[in-house]
Amino acid sequence: LDNRPIGVFDSGVGGLTAVRALQRLLPSENILYFGDSGRAPYGCRPVDEIRRIARQDSSFLAEKGVKALLVACGTMDSNALGDIVENVTVPVGGVVRPSAEAAAAATRNGRVGVLATAATARSGAFGRALAAARASLTVTAEGCPLLVPLIESGHGAADDPALGEALDEYLAPMQAAGVDTLLLGCTHFPLVSDAIAARMGPGVTLIDSGAEGARACARNLAEAGLLCGQERRGSSIYYTSGGTDAFARLSALFLDAGGAGPIRGVEPFRL
Ligand code: DGL
Repeated sequence: LDNRPIGVFDSGVGGLTAVRALQRLLPSENILYFGDSGRAPYGCRPVDEIRRIARQDSSFLAEKGVKALLVACGTMDSNALGDIVENVTVPVGGVVRPSAEAAAAATRNGRVGVLATAATARSGAFGRALAAARASLTVTAEGCPLLVPLIESGHGAADDPALGEALDEYLAPMQAAGVDTLLLGCTHFPLVSDAIAARMGPGVTLIDSGAEGARACARNLAEAGLLCGQERRGSSIYYTSGGTDAFARLSALFLDAGGAGPIRGVEPFRL
Protein backbone atom coordinates (compact mmCIF):
# COMPACT_ATOMS: atom_id res chain seq x y z
CA LEU A 1 0.00 0.00 0.00
CA ASP A 2 1.30 3.40 -0.98
CA ASN A 3 -0.24 6.74 -0.03
CA ARG A 4 1.92 8.87 -2.31
CA PRO A 5 -0.13 10.73 -4.96
CA ILE A 6 -0.72 9.68 -8.56
CA GLY A 7 0.65 12.31 -10.96
CA VAL A 8 -1.61 13.14 -13.91
CA PHE A 9 -0.67 15.65 -16.60
CA ASP A 10 -1.83 17.22 -19.84
CA SER A 11 -1.43 20.37 -21.92
CA GLY A 12 -4.41 21.88 -20.09
CA VAL A 13 -7.81 20.86 -18.78
CA GLY A 14 -8.18 17.78 -21.00
CA GLY A 15 -6.53 15.47 -18.49
CA LEU A 16 -9.36 16.25 -16.09
CA THR A 17 -11.28 13.57 -18.00
CA ALA A 18 -8.76 11.10 -16.55
CA VAL A 19 -8.91 12.71 -13.10
CA ARG A 20 -12.71 12.52 -13.08
CA ALA A 21 -12.56 8.80 -13.86
CA LEU A 22 -9.75 8.14 -11.34
CA GLN A 23 -11.68 9.93 -8.58
CA ARG A 24 -14.70 7.72 -9.30
CA LEU A 25 -12.71 4.48 -9.57
CA LEU A 26 -10.31 5.06 -6.68
CA PRO A 27 -11.83 7.70 -4.39
CA SER A 28 -9.21 7.33 -1.67
CA GLU A 29 -6.25 8.08 -3.95
CA ASN A 30 -4.40 11.40 -3.69
CA ILE A 31 -3.82 13.09 -7.04
CA LEU A 32 -1.40 15.77 -8.23
CA TYR A 33 -2.50 17.26 -11.54
CA PHE A 34 -0.51 19.49 -13.86
CA GLY A 35 -2.30 21.26 -16.72
CA ASP A 36 0.05 23.27 -18.93
CA SER A 37 -2.65 25.66 -20.18
CA GLY A 38 -0.05 28.44 -20.47
CA ARG A 39 1.58 26.47 -23.32
CA ALA A 40 -1.46 24.73 -24.85
CA PRO A 41 -2.10 23.60 -27.48
CA TYR A 42 0.67 21.02 -27.86
CA GLY A 43 -0.89 19.40 -30.91
CA CYS A 44 0.31 22.07 -33.35
CA ARG A 45 3.95 21.84 -32.17
CA PRO A 46 6.78 19.91 -33.85
CA VAL A 47 7.71 16.55 -32.35
CA ASP A 48 11.02 17.70 -30.84
CA GLU A 49 9.19 20.40 -28.85
CA ILE A 50 6.56 17.96 -27.64
CA ARG A 51 9.34 15.65 -26.47
CA ARG A 52 11.13 18.41 -24.55
CA ILE A 53 7.87 19.58 -23.01
CA ALA A 54 6.98 16.02 -21.98
CA ARG A 55 10.28 15.74 -20.11
CA GLN A 56 9.69 19.04 -18.32
CA ASP A 57 6.12 18.19 -17.32
CA SER A 58 7.00 14.70 -16.09
CA SER A 59 9.99 16.03 -14.11
CA PHE A 60 7.74 18.61 -12.43
CA LEU A 61 5.45 15.91 -11.01
CA ALA A 62 8.19 13.33 -10.39
CA GLU A 63 10.05 15.85 -8.22
CA LYS A 64 6.92 16.21 -6.10
CA GLY A 65 7.12 12.53 -5.14
CA VAL A 66 4.35 10.85 -7.12
CA LYS A 67 4.17 7.03 -7.09
CA ALA A 68 3.11 6.73 -10.77
CA LEU A 69 2.42 8.97 -13.74
CA LEU A 70 -0.61 8.97 -15.99
CA VAL A 71 0.14 10.76 -19.26
CA ALA A 72 -3.40 12.07 -19.78
CA CYS A 73 -2.58 13.55 -23.17
CA GLY A 74 -2.81 11.71 -26.47
CA THR A 75 -0.30 14.10 -28.03
CA MET A 76 2.46 13.40 -25.48
CA ASP A 77 1.62 9.69 -25.32
CA SER A 78 1.80 9.27 -29.10
CA ASN A 79 4.91 11.42 -29.61
CA ALA A 80 6.94 11.22 -26.41
CA LEU A 81 6.01 8.25 -24.20
CA GLY A 82 9.54 6.81 -24.49
CA ASP A 83 11.04 10.12 -23.36
CA ILE A 84 8.80 10.20 -20.30
CA VAL A 85 9.53 6.59 -19.34
CA GLU A 86 13.26 7.32 -19.67
CA ASN A 87 12.94 10.54 -17.66
CA VAL A 88 11.35 9.21 -14.46
CA THR A 89 11.80 6.20 -12.20
CA VAL A 90 8.11 5.57 -11.39
CA PRO A 91 5.68 3.51 -13.54
CA VAL A 92 4.18 5.45 -16.48
CA GLY A 93 0.89 4.79 -18.27
CA GLY A 94 -0.87 6.58 -21.08
CA VAL A 95 -4.15 6.82 -22.95
CA VAL A 96 -3.46 5.58 -26.49
CA ARG A 97 -3.20 1.84 -25.94
CA PRO A 98 -6.05 1.48 -23.41
CA SER A 99 -8.46 3.54 -25.50
CA ALA A 100 -7.50 1.74 -28.72
CA GLU A 101 -8.18 -1.59 -26.99
CA ALA A 102 -11.55 -0.31 -25.74
CA ALA A 103 -12.48 0.90 -29.25
CA ALA A 104 -11.42 -2.39 -30.84
CA ALA A 105 -13.59 -4.28 -28.34
CA ALA A 106 -16.57 -1.95 -28.81
CA THR A 107 -16.91 -1.86 -32.60
CA ARG A 108 -19.42 -4.19 -34.22
CA ASN A 109 -18.97 -3.19 -37.86
CA GLY A 110 -15.16 -2.92 -37.68
CA ARG A 111 -15.17 0.77 -38.65
CA VAL A 112 -13.51 2.96 -36.04
CA GLY A 113 -13.06 6.72 -36.19
CA VAL A 114 -10.30 8.55 -34.35
CA LEU A 115 -10.43 12.25 -33.51
CA ALA A 116 -7.12 13.58 -32.22
CA THR A 117 -4.80 16.55 -32.39
CA ALA A 118 -2.78 17.20 -35.55
CA ALA A 119 0.45 15.90 -33.94
CA THR A 120 -1.26 12.72 -32.74
CA ALA A 121 -2.85 12.07 -36.13
CA ARG A 122 0.55 12.60 -37.81
CA SER A 123 2.24 10.12 -35.46
CA GLY A 124 0.00 7.25 -36.59
CA ALA A 125 0.03 5.91 -33.01
CA PHE A 126 -3.69 5.18 -32.82
CA GLY A 127 -3.67 3.34 -36.15
CA ARG A 128 -0.85 1.11 -34.87
CA ALA A 129 -2.50 0.53 -31.49
CA LEU A 130 -5.84 -0.32 -33.12
CA ALA A 131 -4.17 -2.72 -35.54
CA ALA A 132 -2.36 -4.40 -32.63
CA ALA A 133 -5.62 -4.73 -30.70
CA ARG A 134 -7.60 -6.20 -33.60
CA ALA A 135 -6.57 -6.92 -37.16
CA SER A 136 -8.72 -5.83 -40.09
CA LEU A 137 -10.31 -2.73 -38.59
CA THR A 138 -11.01 0.13 -40.97
CA VAL A 139 -9.73 3.30 -39.30
CA THR A 140 -10.69 6.86 -40.27
CA ALA A 141 -8.51 9.38 -38.44
CA GLU A 142 -8.86 13.12 -38.38
CA GLY A 143 -6.59 15.80 -36.88
CA CYS A 144 -8.75 18.48 -35.23
CA PRO A 145 -6.56 21.54 -34.52
CA LEU A 146 -9.38 23.89 -33.53
CA LEU A 147 -10.92 21.90 -30.69
CA VAL A 148 -8.30 22.28 -27.93
CA PRO A 149 -8.05 26.09 -28.28
CA LEU A 150 -11.87 26.33 -28.29
CA ILE A 151 -12.24 24.21 -25.15
CA GLU A 152 -9.37 25.94 -23.32
CA SER A 153 -10.92 29.34 -24.07
CA GLY A 154 -14.34 28.38 -22.69
CA HIS A 155 -16.15 27.47 -25.94
CA GLY A 156 -17.04 23.96 -24.81
CA ALA A 157 -20.79 24.40 -24.30
CA ALA A 158 -22.86 22.00 -26.41
CA ASP A 159 -24.65 24.91 -28.17
CA ASP A 160 -21.53 27.03 -28.81
CA PRO A 161 -21.65 28.11 -32.49
CA ALA A 162 -17.86 28.06 -33.05
CA LEU A 163 -17.61 24.59 -31.52
CA GLY A 164 -20.54 23.41 -33.63
CA GLU A 165 -18.97 24.65 -36.84
CA ALA A 166 -15.64 22.93 -36.08
CA LEU A 167 -17.34 19.66 -35.11
CA ASP A 168 -19.47 19.64 -38.26
CA GLU A 169 -16.27 19.77 -40.30
CA TYR A 170 -14.35 17.14 -38.30
CA LEU A 171 -17.25 14.70 -37.98
CA ALA A 172 -18.30 14.71 -41.64
CA PRO A 173 -15.60 12.14 -42.65
CA MET A 174 -16.60 9.93 -39.69
CA GLN A 175 -20.24 9.98 -40.76
CA ALA A 176 -19.28 9.32 -44.39
CA ALA A 177 -17.15 6.32 -43.32
CA GLY A 178 -20.04 4.83 -41.31
CA VAL A 179 -18.03 4.38 -38.12
CA ASP A 180 -19.95 2.80 -35.24
CA THR A 181 -17.23 3.65 -32.72
CA LEU A 182 -15.54 7.01 -32.36
CA LEU A 183 -12.38 7.19 -30.29
CA LEU A 184 -11.91 10.62 -28.70
CA GLY A 185 -8.14 10.36 -28.90
CA CYS A 186 -7.41 13.73 -27.35
CA THR A 187 -8.34 13.93 -23.69
CA HIS A 188 -9.94 17.35 -24.20
CA PHE A 189 -12.56 15.94 -26.55
CA PRO A 190 -14.68 13.98 -24.02
CA LEU A 191 -15.30 17.38 -22.41
CA VAL A 192 -17.48 18.15 -25.46
CA SER A 193 -18.91 14.64 -25.87
CA ASP A 194 -22.52 15.88 -25.64
CA ALA A 195 -22.05 18.00 -28.76
CA ILE A 196 -20.27 15.10 -30.51
CA ALA A 197 -22.93 12.54 -29.49
CA ALA A 198 -25.73 14.82 -30.69
CA ARG A 199 -24.14 14.89 -34.16
CA MET A 200 -23.14 11.21 -34.38
CA GLY A 201 -26.40 9.79 -33.03
CA PRO A 202 -27.13 6.99 -30.56
CA GLY A 203 -25.75 4.20 -32.79
CA VAL A 204 -22.17 5.41 -32.37
CA THR A 205 -20.18 4.48 -29.25
CA LEU A 206 -17.85 7.22 -28.02
CA ILE A 207 -14.60 6.11 -26.34
CA ASP A 208 -13.23 8.50 -23.71
CA SER A 209 -9.43 8.27 -23.87
CA GLY A 210 -9.00 9.96 -20.49
CA ALA A 211 -11.34 7.53 -18.75
CA GLU A 212 -9.73 4.50 -20.46
CA GLY A 213 -6.29 5.73 -19.37
CA ALA A 214 -7.60 6.04 -15.81
CA ARG A 215 -9.02 2.48 -15.87
CA ALA A 216 -5.69 1.10 -17.07
CA CYS A 217 -3.85 3.14 -14.43
CA ALA A 218 -6.10 1.71 -11.70
CA ARG A 219 -5.45 -1.85 -12.95
CA ASN A 220 -1.70 -1.29 -13.12
CA LEU A 221 -1.53 0.21 -9.61
CA ALA A 222 -3.47 -2.75 -8.22
CA GLU A 223 -1.19 -5.25 -9.98
CA ALA A 224 1.93 -3.46 -8.74
CA GLY A 225 0.64 -3.32 -5.15
CA LEU A 226 0.70 0.48 -5.25
CA LEU A 227 -2.90 1.30 -4.32
CA CYS A 228 -3.47 3.77 -1.52
CA GLY A 229 -4.21 2.36 1.95
CA GLN A 230 -6.17 5.23 3.45
CA GLU A 231 -9.89 4.93 4.27
CA ARG A 232 -10.83 8.59 3.81
CA ARG A 233 -11.40 10.39 0.53
CA GLY A 234 -8.15 11.35 -1.19
CA SER A 235 -7.12 14.93 -1.83
CA SER A 236 -6.38 16.40 -5.24
CA ILE A 237 -4.11 19.36 -5.88
CA TYR A 238 -4.10 21.06 -9.28
CA TYR A 239 -1.21 23.01 -10.81
CA THR A 240 -1.75 25.13 -13.89
CA SER A 241 0.61 27.28 -15.93
CA GLY A 242 -2.40 29.23 -17.22
CA GLY A 243 -4.82 31.44 -15.31
CA THR A 244 -6.04 29.90 -12.05
CA ASP A 245 -9.50 31.51 -12.44
CA ALA A 246 -10.02 30.02 -15.88
CA PHE A 247 -8.82 26.64 -14.61
CA ALA A 248 -11.23 26.87 -11.65
CA ARG A 249 -14.17 27.68 -13.95
CA LEU A 250 -13.43 24.83 -16.35
CA SER A 251 -12.64 22.27 -13.66
CA ALA A 252 -15.91 23.10 -11.86
CA LEU A 253 -17.74 22.25 -15.09
CA PHE A 254 -15.87 19.03 -15.75
CA LEU A 255 -15.18 17.45 -12.36
CA ASP A 256 -17.74 15.92 -10.00
CA ALA A 257 -18.81 18.20 -7.16
CA GLY A 258 -16.15 18.02 -4.51
CA GLY A 259 -13.63 16.89 -7.11
CA ALA A 260 -11.88 20.23 -7.41
CA GLY A 261 -9.23 20.91 -4.78
CA PRO A 262 -6.69 23.69 -4.35
CA ILE A 263 -5.47 25.21 -7.63
CA ARG A 264 -1.93 26.56 -7.71
CA GLY A 265 -0.48 28.71 -10.47
CA VAL A 266 3.03 28.00 -11.77
CA GLU A 267 5.09 29.96 -14.30
CA PRO A 268 5.19 28.19 -17.70
CA PHE A 269 8.52 26.34 -18.09
CA ARG A 270 10.81 27.79 -20.74
CA LEU A 271 11.49 25.60 -23.72
N1 DGL B 1 -5.36 16.78 -24.24
C1 DGL B 1 -4.28 16.80 -25.21
C2 DGL B 1 -4.28 15.50 -25.98
O1 DGL B 1 -4.83 14.54 -25.49
C3 DGL B 1 -4.35 18.04 -26.04
C4 DGL B 1 -3.05 18.40 -26.69
C5 DGL B 1 -2.98 19.82 -27.20
O2 DGL B 1 -2.80 20.70 -26.36
O3 DGL B 1 -3.07 20.03 -28.41
O4 DGL B 1 -3.71 15.38 -27.02
